[in-house]
Amino acid sequence: MRPRITSSIILAAGAVASASPSWPASSSSSSSSRLDARQSSSECSALHIIGAREANADMGYGSTEPFVTMLLDNLPEVTAEPLKYPALGGDDYHASVSYGLGVLMNETQRIFDRCPETKMILVGYSTGAQIIDDVLCGGPDPPSLVTDTILMPPEIGKKIAAVIWFGNPRFIGGMPYNVGTAELGGFAARQEGFVCETYADRIRSYCDAGDLYCSQGDSELTHGTYPVKYGGSALRFIQQRLGINSTAGEPFETHGDRPSAGNWISRPSHGVGFLALGTTLALLLS
Ligand SMILES: *[C@@H]1O[C@H](CO)[C@@H](O)[C@H](O)[C@H]1NC(C)=O
Ligand SMILES: *[C@@H]1O[C@H](CO)[C@@H](O)[C@H](O)[C@H]1NC(C)=O
Repeated sequence: MRPRITSSIILAAGAVASASPSWPASSSSSSSSRLDARQSSSECSALHIIGAREANADMGYGSTEPFVTMLLDNLPEVTAEPLKYPALGGDDYHASVSYGLGVLMNETQRIFDRCPETKMILVGYSTGAQIIDDVLCGGPDPPSLVTDTILMPPEIGKKIAAVIWFGNPRFIGGMPYNVGTAELGGFAARQEGFVCETYADRIRSYCDAGDLYCSQGDSELTHGTYPVKYGGSALRFIQQRLGINSTAGEPFETHGDRPSAGNWISRPSHGVGFLALGTTLALLLS
C-alpha cells in the first residue's frame, strides 16, 4: 500500500476549533492492570513513534500523518500512536499546549515503564512541535509553560532516538538542527541564541521562510508542505540516528508487510486503526 500524501493547509493558531474535540480521558482501570506488569520484550516494539498534531486538527495524527506513515513503512519493528491532546486554537491555545505537555510526559513515562528498551521517535507539526520542544528543551513559553525547567526526566530522555519538528512556532534562526530557508522566528520563538543542548544532535527542525507560524511570514501553504518536501530528509536523518543502513530505496516506497509489532501498531492511512498502549482511543475518536 502506498501512503497517502496530503499537503493540508494548517491553521496553527487561527480561529477557535469548530468542533470541540473530546479531552483525553486518563487511563482506564482496565488498561492500567495491563500496564502494571512490564510486558515481555516480544510485546514491545524496538521503536515507537508519537505524532503530535497541529492546533485545530481533528483528533489523530493531523499533518504528521504522511510522515508517520512513511516511517511505519520504512523502519523496522516500529509502532506509532498520536498524541491525544485537545489541539485547540484561539483563546484555548495556551491551555491546550499546557495540557499537551502533561499528556506527552505521561505517555512517554507509560511507554518507558512498560517497554524500557523501546526507543522513541517524536514527530511534531506546528503546535505539536511546540509541545515536544517545551517538554524536551524547557520553557519559558508563557503562558503555556511559565517555568524554564526541562520537563522530560533524563532516564526517559535517553530513550528518545530522534525528534522531528515541522513548522515549530518556537523556531529561531541559527539553531544547529535547523533545516530550511527560514531565519525569522515563529510566533512563540525562543530567545535569540537558544540551543536545546541535550537533544541537539537528535533534532531536525524544518521551517521555510514565509511560513506564517514558524517564521513570521504570511504563507499557510509553506507551513503545510513539509512532509512532502522534507519527509525523505527527515527519514534519512532518523535512519542515520538509528544506525540503519538504508537500502530501502526511495523514501516513499513501501515494503509490503512488516513484522507484527505487538499491539501498538497504528496505520494512520487506515483512519481509525490505532490502539495506543491499551487505552481506549476508539472512544476519543467517536
Ligand atoms: C498525568 O499523570 C498524572 C499522574 O497520574 C495525572 O495526575 C495527570 O492528570 C496526568 N496529566 C494528563 C494531562 O493526563
Ligand atoms: C551500507 O552498507 C554497505 C555494506 O556494509 C556499505 O558498502 C554502504 O556504503 C552502506 N551504505 C550506507 C548508505 O551507509
